[in-house]
Amino acid sequence: MGKRPLPTRLPRERAFLVGVELASKQGYLTIEDSLAELTLLADTAGLSVVGRASQRLEHPDPKTFLRSGKVQEVKDLAGEVMADIILFDDELSPRHQRELEKIFGEDTRILDRSALILDIFAQHASTREGSLQVELAQYEYLLPRLTRAWTHLARQAGGGAGRAGLVGGVGLRGPGETQLEVDRRVIRQRISHIKGELEKVRKHRSQYRRRRRKAEMPTVALVGYTNAGKSTLLNHLTGSDVYVADQLFATLDPTTRRVALPGGHGVLMTDTVGFLQKLPATLVAAFRATLEEITEAELLLHVVDISHPNACAQGQVVRQTLEEIGVEDIPIVTALNKVDLLTDRKTVLDQLDDFERGVPISALTGEGVTTLLSVIEEEMYERLLPIEVKLPYREGGLISLFHEHGIVEEMQHTDSSVEMKGRIPLRLFADFKPFSTEKFSDSDMEEENHTS
Ligand code: GTP
Repeated sequence: MGKRPLPTRLPRERAFLVGVELASKQGYLTIEDSLAELTLLADTAGLSVVGRASQRLEHPDPKTFLRSGKVQEVKDLAGEVMADIILFDDELSPRHQRELEKIFGEDTRILDRSALILDIFAQHASTREGSLQVELAQYEYLLPRLTRAWTHLARQAGGGAGRAGLVGGVGLRGPGETQLEVDRRVIRQRISHIKGELEKVRKHRSQYRRRRRKAEMPTVALVGYTNAGKSTLLNHLTGSDVYVADQLFATLDPTTRRVALPGGHGVLMTDTVGFLQKLPATLVAAFRATLEEITEAELLLHVVDISHPNACAQGQVVRQTLEEIGVEDIPIVTALNKVDLLTDRKTVLDQLDDFERGVPISALTGEGVTTLLSVIEEEMYERLLPIEVKLPYREGGLISLFHEHGIVEEMQHTDSSVEMKGRIPLRLFADFKPFSTEKFSDSDMEEENHTS
């Protein structure tokens, strides 16, 4: 296994966790589970958790997030355990952050889940694109929260934006500009610079993807809740050395490998960033690179840690995130992973119905993996999807592909193109989709599921 040295942060900072159960916002996880997850996130970020508190609220207090009595209680409790950081499980508004900073004073940092996730992302990004994405997300998070001198807040964001070396040399004020205005201007400039750089890197990536498509190799994107075992599965399938750790977000940058299927076909399998509840939308957007791998895949392989007590809730979070990025029309096969940890296999079988095409596996021992690959192969090569396309004559390659691998039901020639209606294998769907003359809905897919 590839081992990456953990960031050294000595001594470990002491974090006091604060969770809120909002009547107005029902999450998939209970407050206890959400705080347990925050503990794991804090641990991954190198913090030591020294206490926790929670409150049930109708709505967050507009000023201090918690009610004032609870704020005082948290302050007292955190003081007793000498916490350096108060870590909120929900995203704080810039105003909450300001007010809480005033109450807790200079020596205690106020952080929220988003800032913490950004910090972890900053530690894990290893490619240039990944690092740029994290830096962009950090600056975008920081900008509306910039209320004091930059140096102070860079420290508060706890991450790469501070390490980016912007602090020194930017203090040159224009006429009449306050330090804060200078800082904001510098951050905006930096944001637009990073966006430009990202655009360049992405152009390169999309050329690479086009080349790959020409190689006619269909893609399966691994998706799943963080720590479900995606990298372990990819390693098992390819004997490669993708970084695996019992930590959250070990995978940030997409890794693509060729995998042979039992019937002799090949697919490209690509690992993507793990999902998490309360993953801020800006962060999801920031990870366009791995998400693009998802949107362009022919099939999604949803890896679920079936041994986890919240497996179903985590599956829901993944489905919801997939909907948010608009890929709910891509077919899914589910790997119900870590069955080796189950003492009661029946539990898995009972849960099979909750997941699309669920196959119990263990990525660690290899159990069930061949069956999983057969199911993927069946989906890719045997399942035919209905499609209606208008193909210009210059797309002669696609026209012959339709004839050779699909079933043509209707065909009509016009001056510049040929309109074809029929069925094509899933693995070719992405190639034909740009020429589609209709919008395919989920129900079409569902219907197809039942009829094929
Ligand atoms: P992210 O990078 O956070 O998205 O995680 P991931 O989904 O890539 O998970 P990863 O493969 O890093 O595995 C997380 C942990 O689960 C590691 O400690 C693995 O060794 C362990 N694990 C993965 N698959 C299995 C399995 O089938 N059985 C058992 N017992 N452990 C597993």
